[in-house]
Amino acid sequence: MQTPTRTPTQTGARIDAMFDPATYAEVRKPLLEARTLPAWCYTAPEWHAREIEEVFLKGWLFLGRIEQVAKPGDYRAIETPGGPVLMMRGRDDEVRVFANTCRHRGAQLLEGEGNCRAVQCPYHAWVYALDGKLTGAPGMEDTIGFDKADWGLTPVRQEIWEGCVFISFDPDGPDFLDHFGNMPEVLGQYGFADLVCVDSRDFDVPCNWKLLIENALEPYHTATVHKTSLGGQGGHLVETRGNWDAMFGTNDQDQSFSVLPGETCDLPFIKSLGKMEQRGAYFTVLYPSTQFACAQDSVWWLRLLPTGPESCRLNAGFMFPKDAVARSDFAEESKKHFHRWFTGIDEDNWISVMQQKGLRSAARTPGPLASQEVVVHKVYNWLLDRMLENGAA
Ligand code: FES
Ligand SMILES: [Fe+2]
Repeated sequence: MQTPTRTPTQTGARIDAMFDPATYAEVRKPLLEARTLPAWCYTAPEWHAREIEEVFLKGWLFLGRIEQVAKPGDYRAIETPGGPVLMMRGRDDEVRVFANTCRHRGAQLLEGEGNCRAVQCPYHAWVYALDGKLTGAPGMEDTIGFDKADWGLTPVRQEIWEGCVFISFDPDGPDFLDHFGNMPEVLGQYGFADLVCVDSRDFDVPCNWKLLIENALEPYHTATVHKTSLGGQGGHLVETRGNWDAMFGTNDQDQSFSVLPGETCDLPFIKSLGKMEQRGAYFTVLYPSTQFACAQDSVWWLRLLPTGPESCRLNAGFMFPKDAVARSDFAEESKKHFHRWFTGIDEDNWISVMQQKGLRSAARTPGPLASQEVVVHKVYNWLLDRMLENGAA
């Protein structure tokens, strides 16, 4: 019988043990001999705090799509692991990302989404132009050396890849394309630049963000969790270079992976897809927290925001090619996709919350992995490489 092990925090052992590579020797073993991450990686505030510093603030984070701010003056206020940001389209049609904080005493400037001619701080009425320049600062005339030109909104480092807006809070971090290696090569055939986001939804889920990431990368659970909806799936590991991983999922359907088995759908497949891609879907993680699921006729994203050690916000967005959206039958046909997406998301959120509850057991010990969990094991290793001193195995 195995002896239950408590977390370092529960036993009062030094936090150092939590960040000692030796603690993770079993996780580092080859997949079929390996153990899962210890439960504290999903529950401990100390682990969570280091993830924010080492993983999120140093990574490239997906924010959304440029068509979500389609017209000059359109904005979206978005929560990120680096705090609130503002994605906004200027009069010059450029999409920019700024820290959503006033340069005066720091008030958050905007909430939600909308359109504005300029951004006025709700506190003392400083006014910023859509390109971030400070244009009004009433009552600041007496302040010595105050020059509006010095106090524009703080830009956040950004990259727009094929209409997808990514940000990084690390000014010295890697170049976007270097960071994601062959991701553009593999996913390029989905024509992201021609996709249109038709809806996005937030889900507050009381589980650690990694549980949802891991869930979307293994087909092992599908025959049970999605038994009455998506059904069982198979899949194989995709060869990746750079900070991303992927599983290519397959099922027995000739249909798009974005509709439930048994449903028929008339939306055309994306034209540029290879032979294999016409028979399944990529389930990916662009580390740390972006997932693009690329199916034959549509692409959806899962963007994870950790809101605490045991909670996260899932933002899911749904995209189709422009041509499909323009069809007269799009509204009717895409209902099937939304049915599949929301059913799948609800079932995955449910099981992830069940998993979070189970991981709180003081008797929990790390478990073994199945061959279908190959990408889950990759997620563990990617994470440990960044979380531990001299973490590389
Ligand atoms: S905090 Fe924005 S104007 Fe004072
Ligand atoms: Fe699932």
